[in-house]
Amino acid sequence: MYNYANNEEMCCRHVHDHTGITSCSHEHCHIHPGVTGPPIYDGKSHYHEITGATTFEHGHYHTYRAMTGPAIPLPHGHHTHHVSFKTSYCEGHNHLIRGFGQAAPSEAPPHYKG
Ligand SMILES: [Fe+2]
Ligand SMILES: [Fe+2]
Repeated sequence: MYNYANNEEMCCRHVHDHTGITSCSHEHCHIHPGVTGPPIYDGKSHYHEITGATTFEHGHYHTYRAMTGPAIPLPHGHHTHHVSFKTSYCEGHNHLIRGFGQAAPSEAPPHYKG
C-alpha cells in the first residue's frame, strides 16, 4: 500500500471520514470504519477511493473497494461525497454501504494553483 503520509504533496490533501453502519442482512450488520484516500481530480471536480474491511460480526467480516461520487458543495466552502456500493460476498450474503462522507474544506486542484 502506498504510504501517503511520507509524501509531502499528498499528505496535505483532504480525506473524508466515511465511518458508518452497513445495511442489515441475515439478521446482522457491520461497522465500516475509516477514511477515504486523497482526492483524485477529474476536471473541476474530484472523487476518492474507499478501501477497507468491516468489523467482525457473526463470525465474519466483509471487504470493499469503491469510488465516491463527485464533490457536492456545502456551505462555507466545504463539500461532501455520496457513496453507494456493496461489500464483498461472504457467508452467503453481502451488505450495502450508502451515505455521505464527512464534510471537508474544498481545495483547488493542484494544476489550478500558481
Ligand atoms: Fe473530497
Ligand atoms: Fe455480514
